[in-house]
Amino acid sequence: MDDLRVKYLDAIANAADEAALEDLRLQAVGKKGEVSLKMRELGKMTPEERQVAGPALNALKDEINSALSAKKSALADAALDERLRGEWLDVTLPSRPTRQGSIHPISQVTDEVTAIFADMGFSVAEGPQVESDWYNFDALNIPGHHPARAEMDTFYMHRAEGDDRPPHVLRTHTSPVQIRSMEKAGAPLRVICPGRVYRADYDQTHTPMFHQVEGLAIDKDISMANLKWVLEEFVRAFFEVDHVELRFRASHFPFTEPSAEVDIRCSWEGGTLKVGEGDDWLEILGSGMVHPKVLAAGGIDPDQWQGFAFGVGIDRITMLKYGIPDLRAFFDSDLRWLRHYGFASLDQPNLQGGLSR
Ligand code: DAH
Repeated sequence: MDDLRVKYLDAIANAADEAALEDLRLQAVGKKGEVSLKMRELGKMTPEERQVAGPALNALKDEINSALSAKKSALADAALDERLRGEWLDVTLPSRPTRQGSIHPISQVTDEVTAIFADMGFSVAEGPQVESDWYNFDALNIPGHHPARAEMDTFYMHRAEGDDRPPHVLRTHTSPVQIRSMEKAGAPLRVICPGRVYRADYDQTHTPMFHQVEGLAIDKDISMANLKWVLEEFVRAFFEVDHVELRFRASHFPFTEPSAEVDIRCSWEGGTLKVGEGDDWLEILGSGMVHPKVLAAGGIDPDQWQGFAFGVGIDRITMLKYGIPDLRAFFDSDLRWLRHYGFASLDQPNLQGGLSR
């Protein structure tokens, strides 16, 4: 019995893992284990012998069982320690010093514009960039023969041979989102619609893809006066100046009546732009009162509702605000340019903390 005791306690102490431990348990105290077989021999013993051997065998069995369970939890503890050592992490290390990425100026300005208009109660709407010609043109009172269609240098999508429905287009402006917003939400309505637009044009101030933000406000008694206030408020907040002067110039857009182009007073002294002072004027957007036909196309009764709309070139106001001379550089993905003009990724523009800090 002493031999068995030494044999198993040693083996258990040296067991490498739980599987080895289980093998030892079967060999010693399993149904056909050595200790169990010895217990069966008790029957053949004399009562005197049995009185000595019985308790001793039971004690041996208990001793082996508790050695097994002690070793089992020691192995589990060791495995946990090992895992903790492997997964150790110094959470007190400082963050990496190099800035990994930055916010593109277009994204920054889109966020700035959104923050300003959100503060005035406008929500944000989006529409598809591949648009039907109805949304892009007809619904906006630009019929098939209208010169605006030709002027916009539209990209047309391909139609299958024999399919003579009008082709879809890459939207040439964000104005179709006016129609989609009216259809979806009805009146009253206040939305801005920022996004990508496309025209076949390429030089220092034109790229085939660029960005606009559309504004639309519809209610019972909205007038040009509201349009003027909203735009002044916007320009003042956007250029982060206390005072700006706007000039409304009579113009023509098919989707507004009357229409106005809006210029801001500025100076170019020393080659840098200053907004709000000087003797120059710079055109920044188109606007007007929404044409009754456009309201009707959006499912809104023009006898009950009226409103204003405007469209701003995001890229253009970004170049003006941040002194970026060439539009094409926006889309070159040149890392040096992005590092120079990009914005810190954790600074969300807001009216309280400052738009661009
Ligand atoms: N859609 C026009 C463009 O792309 C811009 C525009 C002008 C939008 C006047 C408007 C507006 O909503 O009222 O050139």
